[in-house]
Amino acid sequence: MEFLKLFISIFSFSSFFLGAKSDHLQHIKTKSLRPNRLFVFGDSYVDTGNIRKSISDSWKLPYGLTFPEKPSGRFSDGRVATDFLARYLGIKSPIPYTWREYAGKERLLYGMNYAYGGTGVFKTIIPLPNMTSQIDYFQRILAAGNIYSPFDLPSSLAFVSVAGNDYATFVAMKRPLAELPALMKLVVDQIEVNVRRIHKLGVKKIAIPSLQPLGCLPGSTAFTSFQRCNELDNAAAKFHNNLLRQAVAKLNKETKPSTFVILDYYNAFLTVFKNKGPEPGVKRFENPLKPCCVGVRSNYNCSDVDEKGEKMYTICKDPKAAFFWDVFHPSEEGWRSVYSVLRKHLQVLLI
Ligand SMILES: *[C@@H]1O[C@H](CO)[C@@H](O)[C@H](O)[C@H]1NC(C)=O
Ligand SMILES: *[C@@H]1O[C@H](CO)[C@@H](O)[C@H](O)[C@H]1NC(C)=O
Repeated sequence: MEFLKLFISIFSFSSFFLGAKSDHLQHIKTKSLRPNRLFVFGDSYVDTGNIRKSISDSWKLPYGLTFPEKPSGRFSDGRVATDFLARYLGIKSPIPYTWREYAGKERLLYGMNYAYGGTGVFKTIIPLPNMTSQIDYFQRILAAGNIYSPFDLPSSLAFVSVAGNDYATFVAMKRPLAELPALMKLVVDQIEVNVRRIHKLGVKKIAIPSLQPLGCLPGSTAFTSFQRCNELDNAAAKFHNNLLRQAVAKLNKETKPSTFVILDYYNAFLTVFKNKGPEPGVKRFENPLKPCCVGVRSNYNCSDVDEKGEKMYTICKDPKAAFFWDVFHPSEEGWRSVYSVLRKHLQVLLI
């Protein structure tokens, strides 16, 4: 209860001096083009196969069941955010960085995905490249000059999905909640440094999702049998999102307006959860908070098997009817719905 009050007061305090208004409604230039390359940084919401097979559930069944019908390193039964954003741009999903040697020349044209599941802007419990290191890889590929030239970058889009694991690590380390606002400030400051660096490298459009309503993730709602979102966790996500909005407003003042764009996951997720009527392209989920795949020994362990190789997880009858795939990640149908809600705001990504 005390925690809740703390957050509500922090939240109202910050919203007081924000007055931030969304820059979604930037008018569209006469000759707008869709970016033709996508460079992706961040975590499991966008990783399409960088994470090593030996350490990740995403390379085990039942991940990938819907698409590509076998595990592909995606943290979902099928496609993830990267795939839907690429589809919006009309390009193929960019090749994961670790697979670049095996990619045909044509596939490299669509950009590259540097994201690793489990990572954040800072060190997380999973020892994989943080966002700074991911940008280092990007910079090295640019410097090598044999795949991309500086002329490719102004027509490219960078996509940054980060911060969730920084906060998950904070929770896992059992840090006192009172320290969270200060951490959030550090995280958003570091995001600002990172995206400014991507811009300096020559990318002229950078999309950053806001944090999804963390309190609605099955990891947070399991205690209520996936019935009710945790308002405290949602308030924390809003606090992060307000800081992010301030940082993006500041960045856009330094550059051309709408160089840095927030994709409003927070409200898009809630819109999908609440959707009762036939909004075109948005699926109605029976209980959107209930994940399709849950472990038997632990909710968290979708892909667990026992010593005899018997499945120690259950999956729902129809993954297309579930918004969440596992306790942290939307299903393919979940992501499809989120991106169909966002679609009308994506014009701001045109260049
Ligand atoms: C990211 O990881 C690298 C390599 O471990 C480390 O040197 C760097 O300080 C980290 N960056 C941040 C912002 O934590
Ligand atoms: C999760 O599954 C792995 C095997 O896939 C197992 O080693 C681990 O102990 C399980 N964790 C929990 C919490 O059940």
